[in-house]
Amino acid sequence: MDKIVIEGGIPLQGEVASSGAKNAALPILAATLLAPGIHHLSNVPNLADIRTAKKLLANLGVKFTDHEVLAVDTSRLTSCEAPYALVKTMRAAVLVLGPLVARAGEARVSLPGGCAIGARPINLHLKGLEEMGVRVTLKHGYVEAKVHRLHGAPIHLELPSVTGTENLMMAATLAAGTTVIHNAAQEPEVADLARFLVAMGAEIDGIGTDVLTIRGVQSLSPASHTIMPDRIEAATYLTAAAITQGEVTIRGVPCEHLTAVLDKFQEAGVRLAIEDSQLKVKPAKHLVGVDVMTHPYPGFPTDMQAQFMALMCIAEGASLITENIFEKRFMHVSELRRLGADIVVSGNHALVRGVRCLQGAPVMATDLRASASLVLAGLAAQGVTEVHRVYHLDRGYEQLEHKLSALGARIWRAKAD
Ligand code: EPU
Repeated sequence: MDKIVIEGGIPLQGEVASSGAKNAALPILAATLLAPGIHHLSNVPNLADIRTAKKLLANLGVKFTDHEVLAVDTSRLTSCEAPYALVKTMRAAVLVLGPLVARAGEARVSLPGGCAIGARPINLHLKGLEEMGVRVTLKHGYVEAKVHRLHGAPIHLELPSVTGTENLMMAATLAAGTTVIHNAAQEPEVADLARFLVAMGAEIDGIGTDVLTIRGVQSLSPASHTIMPDRIEAATYLTAAAITQGEVTIRGVPCEHLTAVLDKFQEAGVRLAIEDSQLKVKPAKHLVGVDVMTHPYPGFPTDMQAQFMALMCIAEGASLITENIFEKRFMHVSELRRLGADIVVSGNHALVRGVRCLQGAPVMATDLRASASLVLAGLAAQGVTEVHRVYHLDRGYEQLEHKLSALGARIWRAKAD
């Protein structure tokens, strides 16, 4: 198993670009199942999760031609099953549920178990599908879904689930009649998926809002689409610049999707120049602790909580960080403490008291964003930090250590003992 080794303390300098968004590419790959034929996707990031998604689709009969543009041939489906072996490595595999029932009238998808960051049930996905006429049964750890023809329905989501909204929106595109999803997730990745569906011929109103109206159509056609840039990856590089007191330009940043994040960095004293899709980061004169609460979009994203906490570890004063989305998303705290951070957790609140400096140590990654937070802390720490179990990082950051080395960081991958 690999580890990432970092010799911290170097202010980063230079330019870095964001790759395509993992959380847009995953539902869009699933959506190709809705229309038989050859789809063309650009800016698909080269990540472990994307490779898992391709394996999952290949299992269903989908063929890929991988050049600059990814051609996805969904002409013939040979199976409707998402097996446990794949779903257990990537929960987003449940995104094939909606498209499969819509196209084939059936799906058998392994029920994802709990996960490092929380229980993460899929009850809202299933309830919404039932409201559209799907018969759902749970058998031997699998969700079995069957429907003759989906029908449109009013759906009120109890929580604005991101993949829940995506699954239901995809299913609704081929339903008879109109579906209205109330309290829909407004994340930009949901809107990117909706734009792809519209390019396929779907009729969707309210894209980017919390009410999505989908008028079902008889059939959809293959389409071409460019995956939007990854806002979380961009914000992770922003944190890398800020935590090392560096001066970095990040290209391809969807700044309009990062308002809540950029506001918090500015409040903490980080100097930012925002120009369309470019973000220039300059060191804070005084980095100060600020409070943050995670919320569904347009609030501060839970996917940036761990990285922002790493920054707050070396800010002047204190920062109260509240995690409202996932009940176990503080797994990085005990590892940050190994680097010398002063953090106290009570329920879903973490009180971070800034320390003068962090010290390098071996640490263990527990999930994707926790891993990113440990790498960031390592960039700022004195001495050597080793981040173990980096397969978590490979799920969601394309060439992280290469991008950081290009900014001057001393960071490399090595075999763990
Ligand atoms: N929830 C339910 N029932 C459901 C669905 C969700 O109770 O049926 C709860 C969850 O347990 C959680 C909350 O609702 O407490 C929000 O979960 P959501 O369904 O929105 O999360 P998700 O769709 O499983 C996506 C991203 C996550 C990101 C969350 C929140 C993808 C593939 N994954 O997950 O990304 O943290 O939205 O924004 O889009 C990551 O990239 O590191 C990552 C974990």
